[in-house]
Amino acid sequence: MKIAVVGGGGHVGLPLSLLLADKGYAVQVIDCDAAKIEALKRGEFPFLEEGGQALLTKLLRRAAGHTLVFSAESNLVSDCDVVILVVGTPVDEHMNPNLTPVYAVIEQIKPFLRSGQVVILRSTLFPGTSEKIQAALTAGGLDVGVCFCPERIAQGHALRELQEFPQIISGSSKSALAVARKVFSSLTSKIVELSMTEAELAKLFTNAWRYIKFAVANQFYMIAADKGLDFYRIRDAMVQDYGRAADFPLAGFAAGPCLFKDTMQLAAFNRQNFALGHSAMLLNETLPDFLVERAKLSYALKGMRVGILGMAFKADNDDKRESLAYKLRKLLLYENAVVLCTDPYIQDPEFESLQSVLSSCELIFIGCPHSMYRTIKFDKQHVIDCWGIVRT
Ligand SMILES: NC(=O)c1ccc[n+]([C@@H]2O[C@H](COP(=O)([O-])OP(=O)(O)OC[C@H]3O[C@@H](n4cnc5c(N)ncnc54)[C@H](O)[C@@H]3O)[C@@H](O)[C@H]2O)c1
Repeated sequence: MKIAVVGGGGHVGLPLSLLLADKGYAVQVIDCDAAKIEALKRGEFPFLEEGGQALLTKLLRRAAGHTLVFSAESNLVSDCDVVILVVGTPVDEHMNPNLTPVYAVIEQIKPFLRSGQVVILRSTLFPGTSEKIQAALTAGGLDVGVCFCPERIAQGHALRELQEFPQIISGSSKSALAVARKVFSSLTSKIVELSMTEAELAKLFTNAWRYIKFAVANQFYMIAADKGLDFYRIRDAMVQDYGRAADFPLAGFAAGPCLFKDTMQLAAFNRQNFALGHSAMLLNETLPDFLVERAKLSYALKGMRVGILGMAFKADNDDKRESLAYKLRKLLLYENAVVLCTDPYIQDPEFESLQSVLSSCELIFIGCPHSMYRTIKFDKQHVIDCWGIVRT
C-alpha cells in the first residue's frame, strides 16, 4: 500500500510518515515548505522530536529513495492508495475555526485524486468538517472514501506515543474504515471506532479537558500566591499517596498550537455557550499578567533588567508557536523593563546566553521549564517560577 502524507513535514505529519515508512509502507511526504523538504532530503530532521533524527537517518539509508520520498509536489498523491492530510487548523481573530487551510489543501490535491482512493483526515477538525469534505469530493465526481482519525500525541513524543495509545478511527464507509484500520493497526493493536462527528468531538473534548485542568491548577496557584502561600507546598501535600488527586497538574503557561485553539473550536461549535472553556482561556491567558502584577508589588520594573529563561511553549522543546513566554516579554516591555530572553533550543539573534542573563538580571522569570534550569543555583536573583521547578 502506498501512502501520501500531505503536510508531512509538520510536527504531526513527519513522525507519522516516518513511522509508517518504518512499518513497511511506501510513503510520499508532501509539504509546501520547500526548504523543509530539501532539509529532509539531506537527512536533517527539522525540529526536536524524541528519536526523530535517528529514525530519519535509518530510513534514508535503507530507503534509497524508494519507500520514502520527500516532495513539495501534490501530484504525487495520484499514484497512492491512501492520502493522509495533516495541515494546521487554526482559529481566526474572532476565535472561530479557520477552515481555509483544510479546504485549500483539498482543492490543491483534488485534480490528482481518483476514485477508489481513501483520504484520511488527521488534522484536528471542527465537527462536521469530515462529512462536508466527503460530500464535496462526491459532488466533484470522485468516489473517494473519507476517514477522520485524530492525532493525540504530545508534541515531541510522537514516535513513542503513536505506538502506545489506542488509535481512534472513523470513516464514511465500511471499506474506507477497513483501510484506516489497516493503516493504524501497523502502529498499535488498540483501535477504537467512532462515527466521524463523534471522532471530531472526541479530539476537541480531549484537548479542552486538558486545557481546563491546567486552568484549575493555574487558578489555585493564583489564589495561593495572592494569599501569600506557596502553591507547591499545598499541591505536594494534596497529591502525596492520594490517587484521586494524582492527575492534578502543575501550574504553568498552558500554551502552544493546540489546547487554546481547540477549546475555542469547541466553544464555536456550541454557539459560544461554553462557560468552562472560556473561563479556562481567561485564566490561562492571563497568568503572565498575574505574574507581572505580582512582580510590580516588589520591584520598580521601569528600567530594570529582567530575564526570561525559556521561550518555547513546552519544556525541552524548540517550538515557540503560541508560547505565553512571548506574552510575558511583551507585558514586561510595556512596563518599560529591559527584557533579556534566553532559550537553548530557539535560535534568535535577539536572545542572550543563559550566562549573560543570569549575570546581569536581578529578577528572573521562568518562561518555560526546560530541564536544564532545574539545576541552576540562583544566588543573587529573585526568581518568579509558576511551574515550581525552582524549589528552595
Ligand atoms: N502539534 C501537535 O502536537 C498536535 C497534536 C495533535 C494534533 N495536532 C493537529 O495536527 C494538525 C497539524 O499540526 P502541526 O502541529 O503538525 O502543524 P505544523 O504547522 O507543524 O505542520 C503542518 C505542515 O503542513 C504543511 N502545509 C501547510 N499547508 C500545506 C499545503 N497546502 N500543502 C502541503 N503542505 C502544507 C506546512 O508546511 C507544515 O509543514 C493541526 O490540526 C493540529 O491541531 C497537532
